[in-house]
Formats: sequence, C-alpha cells, structure tokens
Amino acid sequence: MSTKIILDCDPGIDDALAIAFAHGHPDIELVGITTVAGNVGLAQTTANALAVCEFIGAGPTPVTAGCAGPLLRPALDARLVHGDSGLGGAILPAPVAPPAAGHAIDYIIDTLRASPGEITLVATGPLTNIALAARREPRLTDWVRDFVIMGGSAGRGNVTPAAEYNIWADPEAAAVVFRAGWTVTMLGLDVTLRTSATAAVQQRMGGLGSLGTDLLLPALEQYKSVREPAGPPVHDVCAVAWVAQPDLFGLVPASVQVETAGALTTGMTVTDLDVPASSGEIAANALVAMDIDVDRFWEVVLGTYARVAAPGRQGPLTDDGEVGAEFEFLVQPDCLLGGLDEIGVVPPLPGALRSGQRHHAGPAPHGQVRADGQNRYIGGRLIGPLQRAGESPLVQHRLKFPGRLARTELLVSPGRRDVG
Ligand code: BDR
Ligand code: CA
Repeated sequence: MSTKIILDCDPGIDDALAIAFAHGHPDIELVGITTVAGNVGLAQTTANALAVCEFIGAGPTPVTAGCAGPLLRPALDARLVHGDSGLGGAILPAPVAPPAAGHAIDYIIDTLRASPGEITLVATGPLTNIALAARREPRLTDWVRDFVIMGGSAGRGNVTPAAEYNIWADPEAAAVVFRAGWTVTMLGLDVTLRTSATAAVQQRMGGLGSLGTDLLLPALEQYKSVREPAGPPVHDVCAVAWVAQPDLFGLVPASVQVETAGALTTGMTVTDLDVPASSGEIAANALVAMDIDVDRFWEVVLGTYARVAAPGRQGPLTDDGEVGAEFEFLVQPDCLLGGLDEIGVVPPLPGALRSGQRHHAGPAPHGQVRADGQNRYIGGRLIGPLQRAGESPLVQHRLKFPGRLARTELLVSPGRRDVG
C-alpha cells in the first residue's frame, strides 16, 4: 500500500528530482506540493514545481504557494548553485496550470486534519511553511503519519562550516520545527552528500529519454559547480526515498537543537547522538540518518525514474465519468502488441482503480481479463494510416475499466524501452 505525502519544497534542482521520484515510485502517492522561498524566490519555486509536474505527467497534483521569505531574516537564495531559474540548465515548457488557490499553510493543515495519521509531511526546503503551520495548528504534530526533512547535519555544513542550507536559510523556523513536539526524521548532509550522481549514474539517466535529456541531466549539469568531486549530490531525493524505502538508511535517535544566535554557527543543527530515545531531560526529538546504502539507493532511484520516463505516454486522456468506459491509445514503435508492462491511472477513480495505483497489463492476448480483475485488456492492433515513412508501426490498444472513470490520465510504459 502506498504512503501519501505532501511535499513542501523550493525547486531547486534536487527538489525537482524529488518530485519526479515521488511521482514515479509505486509506494508513494503524491497528494500535493507546497512551495516556499529558498533556492529561488517563491514565484519561481512555484512555477518550477508546476512545470516539473506537467513535464513528468503529474499535472493534476495541486501546487500551493506558501511563504515568500523566512520568519525573521532577509531571504537569501541559492542561485549560484541552482541557476537563475532554479532548475539549472533544464528549460521546461512554462506551466499551463496555475497554482492551487489558497496558502500552503492552510493546505497543509486542512489536508492533514482531513486524514489524521495517514499523510507523511516531507520538507525539502527552508522550514518556514512548516513552522507557521505547526504554530497555527499544534495538533498538526499528531495528525502527521511521519515528518521527514532534508536538512541539517550532525557534522559539517555546506553553506558555512556549521550550517546546511535549508536550516541556515531560516534558522528560527527550523528551531520552531525541532521543538514542536514531534519526531523529526532528519536526512541531513551526513547521508545526502554521499548520493553523488556519478558519471555512471548520469550515463544511465541518459537512457531515460526526455526525462533524462531534458530534465535530469541538464539540471544536474549546473550542480557540477558544487565541490563534490564524485558528482552532484541529490540531497532532496533522500527524503522521499526514505518514505518509499526506509531500509536504505540507518537512523539514530538524537536530540537536535538549532543554533539561532551563534556568531559563526547560525543554522547549525547541534546533534547529540547519545541521548536516550525517550525520557530524561533532553529526550530525543529526531531520528537522524547517519548511514545510507548508496548502491541500492541509486538502483531504487533510477528504477523509479525509468517508470516516470514512460516513453509511450500520450498525455492526458480524459473522460467525464462513464461506467465501463473504454480508452483507445497509441503507443510508440517497438512496443509490440501486448507488450505493455504497466498502466497507471491518476487521479482518483472511485471504485476499483484509485489515484496513483498502477496495474499490470502485462503481455496479453486479445480480450483476456487481467489477473487482478480490475481492468480488462481488450486488445491491440496495428494502425497503418498513422505510420509515417521509415517509422515502425504504432500500435493502438484498448482498455476497458469496469468502474466509473473520473478525470483520468493513462500512463503507458512500453516494456524495456528507453526512448522518449
Ligand atoms: C539543500 O539545499 C538546497 O539548495 C537543496 O535544494 C537542498 O534542499 C541541500 O543543502
Ligand atoms: Ca531543496
């Protein structure tokens, strides 16, 4: 069963990569995105979140804008690392959809209130929205399933010797968040600096079609200016990867206090790894990641991106809600008849298929009812007239869903193909 998340972020190169991971991993349901000023200004982080969502086929995910600056301090961005656009060298089409109405803080509170214990809150930017949400509605800490951040460090910083960027950008907000009374799962530099997208990783990204060549690689190209010799680390992906696969990381209970008044150390997450997990005057308020299985991490991440690449995707196919609706869709060359390996239906479908769920359509002879009983593969046929000279034939497939189809998008992934 997938875990629902709200992703509070400041895209941001690695935030964009985190959005793609959250959208693509079958064990995560990306309920909504909230944005905050950080790597670039709020208008840009919001536009970037929308553009990334539309580019990867997560268009219906609501993106709600939040705070335009830190609680007390002037906003300081990270354009030097993320570029003026915030997405490095990736140039995506401008988003078509506007942000969702309302403020991120209300969205976070209202969404968690409606489903207490069900939704994990993931923060990969400065913690301004989260601090204000927790102040305004203290029951938030009871309503979250888990709260996980990319931020902080038990050791070195990356903006100053002591401070990591997300904490340094709004240390007062981080101090509020670490004192809010919940357990903060902290994926900090101790592990995230080990997730360099090496040359070998980037080579594999190059085989992911347009996802690789238009988003992942040009975005990471800009990150190369960062001082990590092995390749740019994908910090924010760690936070969403933890949701999907917590066993990739080794966590240690700790007490984490945020320095807000240091002459040289503002934004430092002062981490005591020796406190007991409970009781005592300074009980642990965090689970701090100190270990990561880097090889498995990249297998999971690249596997997830391969799902997002969905090279046969034809864009949204919508239907008004007919019972037993049939869809016809085209898949690109090389996808042999019956060679579909996955079909995803988003967003919510009352009845058999639910938001973000994926159903295997497998190689199937015409008309065979699928093993899961949820959808019926009607069949496929070559479509001659649409074939252009020199192209392999397109294949038309028909699917029949027994349930009522609300606004629907079919994501079609031909098996083992790499091209967009
Ligand atoms: C964090 O800082 C930002 O620049 C990145 O997006 C990431 O969230 C790493 O320190
Ligand atoms: Ca970020």
